[in-house]
This record gives sequence, structure tokens and C-alpha cells, in this order.
Amino acid sequence: MPTAEHLILRELLAREPNWLSGSRLAAKLGVSRVAVWQHMGKLRADGFTFEARRARGYRLVSRPAGPHAALIETQLKVRPQDFSLLVLDEVDSTNDEAARQLAAGRAAPFAVIARRQIRGRGRLGRAWHSEANGNLYASIAFRPRVAPDRMAAFTLWMGLNLCELLANFAKVTPGLKWPNDLLLDGRKVGGILTEARIDSDQIRDLVFGLGLNINAPTEDWPPALARRAVSLAEIAGEPFDFNRLTAALLGRVLLAYDNFADGTYLKTFADLWHRFDVLRGKTIVLIEGDRRHRGTVTGLDDEGALLLRDALGRTQRFRAGEVTFDPAS
Ligand code: BTN
Repeated sequence: MPTAEHLILRELLAREPNWLSGSRLAAKLGVSRVAVWQHMGKLRADGFTFEARRARGYRLVSRPAGPHAALIETQLKVRPQDFSLLVLDEVDSTNDEAARQLAAGRAAPFAVIARRQIRGRGRLGRAWHSEANGNLYASIAFRPRVAPDRMAAFTLWMGLNLCELLANFAKVTPGLKWPNDLLLDGRKVGGILTEARIDSDQIRDLVFGLGLNINAPTEDWPPALARRAVSLAEIAGEPFDFNRLTAALLGRVLLAYDNFADGTYLKTFADLWHRFDVLRGKTIVLIEGDRRHRGTVTGLDDEGALLLRDALGRTQRFRAGEVTFDPAS
């Protein structure tokens, strides 16, 4: 059920950059002009600023830079009964909060977004730097009934969809580095951490965690991180509208999930893979536990495992691992 704040935001966004008359807004909401003024006060407290003129009404001047639930929901093209959103100021990890919500029975799909994570987690037990700095920390929870061996293909499919969305939305040229790194200009702009609870031979629930560097000023990052990572804003030369981009990303994730669940993803997977894969034909080192494998990437198998041809011409498949480009090649 949209709140009065949702309705006001929807109307103001639709009119942007024009004025919206207070009496029209009041009529749309079915409340008095005084009540409209009170609701706008609530939005002001959240970080919105408005211009108000007696003869013309209201105009949106600026909006909160960080995650804002109503602003995301208003711009998300998904029926509210099909999805819910939890926006938090601070959390240990959005993946952990999503898992707690699933365990408590919250209806899926839903997303958890936090302005800051205290224990943001990356793959392979690493920490994910998660300050309140204009970056996105999001987890989207699903209850799919699919076999666990489809997880790798799911993560790749989601990564490809995110690449296409970023290419269209941000006019950048992203790449996907198997299995889950989103790259821009050879540096990491985002990472995916998919986690699932398995029930006998089926996935019971699944959390798709996404960390995306949107607006962080990279000069504030620890030097080792700034060498490897980049933000969208740094590449584009200007900040992005965080909540508009987040709404577009969530919409795409939900659509991509449906395509995965009904099998239609197979129609476009190969095309997207050829467009965004950055490893094909490259000589790499794949680290798997304490073993290192050097070889040339020849492609993927049906389950999303990476195919690597070694110096003797033998092809091996890897379901997991950490890839680095071979400096000797
Ligand atoms: C990686 O590249 O190692 C994956 C990073 C995934 C980070 C995101 S941020 C939101 C979600 N919550 C977490 O604790 N991790 C994921």
C-alpha cells in the first residue's frame, strides 16, 4: 500500500523539473493542503528539499544521496504485492540480514539495502569494504525450487544482466570476470556473493548479494583498494542518482530471476556472455585452495564452470576459484 509520501514523490518526480500545484496534489491524495504540507515536512526531514511558491505549488530541488525506501519503491517498476524492500542505516551484512528475514518467514522476493555494513563479506571469506560512502550494499532474497548445481549459472546470468543494465544506464563499458567480478577499465566496480540454504537436493532459499561502487570518492579508500577498485562516478566523471540506479538494478535483478526460473534465460545467455566476458582467450592463473592452475580460457560448460586449456593442451573445468591475469602473458 503506497503511503502519502510515496504518492507525493511519484507526482513530483513525474512533473520534474516543473511545478506541481498544492491543490492538485491535495486532490490526488484526497487530503487538505495543510496535510500535504505536513507530509512534505516528513520528506524534508529525510533529506529532500523543495521549492514552494504560493502561485505555482511545489518543485523538487534535491533528494537524499543515500538509500531511501520510498524513493526506490516509487521508481521501481514492480507491483508492490510482488516485492518488499527493507532499507537500513547500518547492519552487519545485508546478506546476513536477508538470511535472518528468510528464516523468520518473510515473503520472498525482497531486498535488504544498507547505507553501511559493519561486517560486509566478500567471496572466499574476505571482508567487503562497506562505509557509508555512496556505494550500494544490497541483498535480494528468493525462494527458488531448483537444484543446487544451478547456482553457478545463476550467479553468472545475474552478473551478465547487471553488466547490460550498467552499459545502458550509465553509458559505461563493463565486463564480467568469472565468476562474479564486475569490472570497469580493468578495475573492480562490483562483486556478487550468492549464498543458499540447501534442503536435501533443492535450494530452499537463496540470497543474491551485490556490492556496487556507485558514488564513493576513491581517494578516500585504503590505497591497496583504490589500486584494484573503481567507482562508476569516477569513470563517468559525475555522480549518479543513487536511488534511481538502485531501482533500475533491482528491477533488472527481479526480471533476470524470473527468466532464470522459467528457463528463458537460455535464449540470451550466450550472447550476453560473448559481449561481457573478459576472460575468453586470455592466459590466466586460477587459484583453487592452495593450488594454482595456469592456462588459456576457452569458455564455459553448461553448468557455468570455467574451461581452462593448459600448456599440454589438456582442458580442465573449474567450478570455483580466484582468477588473476597471468603477468607473464
Ligand atoms: C566479492 O566480490 O567478493 C563479493 C562481494 C559481495 C559484497 C556484497 S555487499 C552486499 C552483500 N552483503 C555482504 O556482506 N556481501 C554482499
